[in-house]
Amino acid sequence: MERTYIMIKPDGVDRKLVGEVIRRFETRGLKLVGLKMLVPSREIAEKHYEVHRERPFFAELVDFITSGPVVAMAWEGNQAITLTRKMMGATKPEDALPGTIRGDYTTSISANIVHGSDAPETAAVELKLWFADNELLP
Ligand code: RTP
Ligand code: MG
Repeated sequence: MERTYIMIKPDGVDRKLVGEVIRRFETRGLKLVGLKMLVPSREIAEKHYEVHRERPFFAELVDFITSGPVVAMAWEGNQAITLTRKMMGATKPEDALPGTIRGDYTTSISANIVHGSDAPETAAVELKLWFADNELLP
């Protein structure tokens, strides 16, 4: 069993895709083990995207993720990290295949609906960053 951090970004909330994103992961067979809605502070956003700090789009990324409410989630299941990444679709819009969340709902590289941890180490760090232990199912 694996756990991963998934976040519906402000554009996904604004476009009322919260239910759709949750439905896709639930019907796949993953289990929701943590859920909350919040407007991220700059502090948490900068920590979340720390690996991109030196990239030219870092400021834009932090501005975007703090621009409105997000839905922070923890999902559990067999191969949860790989499965959710595949279901999200690629970062580049031209590579996000139909049938994926990004491939079905966006053409933008920045307003791309959803974030998902990309490896077990990042999942552990991100779940700790966004959730207190008592906010997750045991
Ligand atoms: P995320 O972290 O949000 O799940 O997205 P990702 O793994 O698919 O992509 P990542 O490489 O981690 O990049 C994080 C976010 O930065 C924006 N980005 N912009 N302008 C650019 O070249 C560029 N590259 C990445 C995207 O919004 C991406 O979601
Ligand atoms: Mg990423």
